[in-house]
Amino acid sequence: MKRDEILKKLRQAGDYVSGQELCEYYGVSRTAVWKAIRQLERDGYTIEAVTNRGYRLVESGEETLSRVSIDSHMDTQWVGKNLVFRKETGSTNMDAKLLAEEGAAAGTLVVADMQTAGRGRRGRGWVSEPGTDIYMSLLLRPSCMPQQASALTLVMALAVLEAVAEIVPDGVGIKWPNDVVINGRKICGILTEMSAEPDGIHYVVTGVGINTNRAEMEEEIRSHATSLMIETARPVNRAKLIARVMHYYEAAYALFAQSQDMTALLDRYNAFLINRDKEVRVLDPKGAYEGIARGINEKGELIVEREDKTRELVYAGEVSVRGIYGYV
Ligand code: BTN
Repeated sequence: MKRDEILKKLRQAGDYVSGQELCEYYGVSRTAVWKAIRQLERDGYTIEAVTNRGYRLVESGEETLSRVSIDSHMDTQWVGKNLVFRKETGSTNMDAKLLAEEGAAAGTLVVADMQTAGRGRRGRGWVSEPGTDIYMSLLLRPSCMPQQASALTLVMALAVLEAVAEIVPDGVGIKWPNDVVINGRKICGILTEMSAEPDGIHYVVTGVGINTNRAEMEEEIRSHATSLMIETARPVNRAKLIARVMHYYEAAYALFAQSQDMTALLDRYNAFLINRDKEVRVLDPKGAYEGIARGINEKGELIVEREDKTRELVYAGEVSVRGIYGYV
């Protein structure tokens, strides 16, 4: 019997579960149940034990992030089922890529409580302090062509958005291609890396950083970045949020896989696109230009209408898009 099974059972019950019931359910001795409960307490859970009633899990907003805590919230079929948890690592993207090279299965999820070499897009770093935020990387082995895989980043943005909207119902949106924002300030960054040949993909790793329980942002990024804690004034259960992102990702990925593009997700994505019908500046290396963003197409490209009404298709890998008056 695994302690995460007991944790799941206590969580589902939401009330006392007798020691006898746990013994019978798992076919183990009272001592084995007692040992598992002690172990969960050592993991940081508060479990009340009352004579004649049994055990009850006392849920708190924040809890120690662990493999057991994440697993106990997971309700997916394959995404996040093979879960690797590291208290500290360099970068979960690097870990997931190494696991991929060793043959790990699609759906493997690497989560860390802190990163010492967190990586952002465009060669930037990603601040990854312990005990507050979410750092995770999902390994995928899609059967699509390499040029279609960049849309997987958009699929993840949608999944994060849907999970975050359960906590903050208003003001959540996506800044194309893959920043999730609350009231115009970034709470999530996504970095997708791929190993491929011209006619096929070995693997894709999608790394996600969510500013979760940080009480304040560093001075330099405060104007355009925020955290869930800052927005809601209460701590968020990281384990549960990770599991909710995986839940939505699995559903969204199934839709992506139907046509290997954004066709089935287009309307949902565009509904949350904060750049939509807004003036944007496209920082194309061949020359910057301005226009109105009209949403994405099924390939995940941003449709930008220029002043002369011609339409440009902006590919995520090539350029950066800024709002004309700042970050969004
Ligand atoms: C961005 O620049 O917006 C993307 C940031 C991606 C950060 C995440 S944190 C987990 C994963 N591991 C990394 O090293 N980077 C990604």
